[in-house]
Amino acid sequence: MPDNAVLMREDNKSPLKTGEKLLFIVAGIFILFASIAFGVMQYLMATSDTPIFEQKTHYNLSADGNRGSLIFRESACTECHRAMRGGTNMGNNLDGIGTKRNLQWIEDFLRDPETVYGHETMDHGPKPKQAYFVAEMSEADRHLMAIFLSELISEQGSASSPVPPKGESPFIDSMINTWAPSEWKDKYTDIREKNIDNKVDKTLGDK
Ligand code: HEC
Repeated sequence: MPDNAVLMREDNKSPLKTGEKLLFIVAGIFILFASIAFGVMQYLMATSDTPIFEQKTHYNLSADGNRGSLIFRESACTECHRAMRGGTNMGNNLDGIGTKRNLQWIEDFLRDPETVYGHETMDHGPKPKQAYFVAEMSEADRHLMAIFLSELISEQGSASSPVPPKGESPFIDSMINTWAPSEWKDKYTDIREKNIDNKVDKTLGDK
């Protein structure tokens, strides 16, 4: 064996330097505190009567909505969409869609997506688009899925709501100040200054 190989083996066995020990101790303390905090948080979430995070995305399904949700899951919609938190992010997140679109709009979209969008779509539409099968499903199944989707409601300020939180939003203000040219108000209106009163205009998509 060459000499330097022996040397390296001995090097590996040398005790940790003070700095290295300190690094491990600090990292250990971080991990310990993170684990304790996680445990406490889980315990509180499991036992507390009031929810820790305000629930603003709602899934109160009717009997037909429940049947629709089953068809939705069995029809591979979740390969692209997220709804009731489950699914993927390839297509739009459908949580809260019932606040933005009405039942008729959703049903029309599923049957005839490009006419409803008024322009070309990416995945819904005729073959060879990947979600072509949706328009070929039975009218009854599409109707139940549309009921299900129209019951996915978001309150204003929820992550899945099309409308930002009420009142002051310092984060949004600071982003606007940083990124938007000051003339933006000549062309656009600030949606927060409209009197929305928790109801979004459901004709948003009806153009
Ligand atoms: C291959 C991916 C894919 C699959 C599968 C898929 N979708 Fe979509 N979906 C999309 C994309 C992308 C859009 C945006 C419109 C477009 O470009 O096609 C969309 C849009 C929608 C919209 C309109 C959302 C909005 O507010 O504009 C609805 C409703 C919808 N999908 C429901 C469904 C349902 C129900 C199924 C299953 C039966 C389904 N999708 C399956 C990709 C998919």
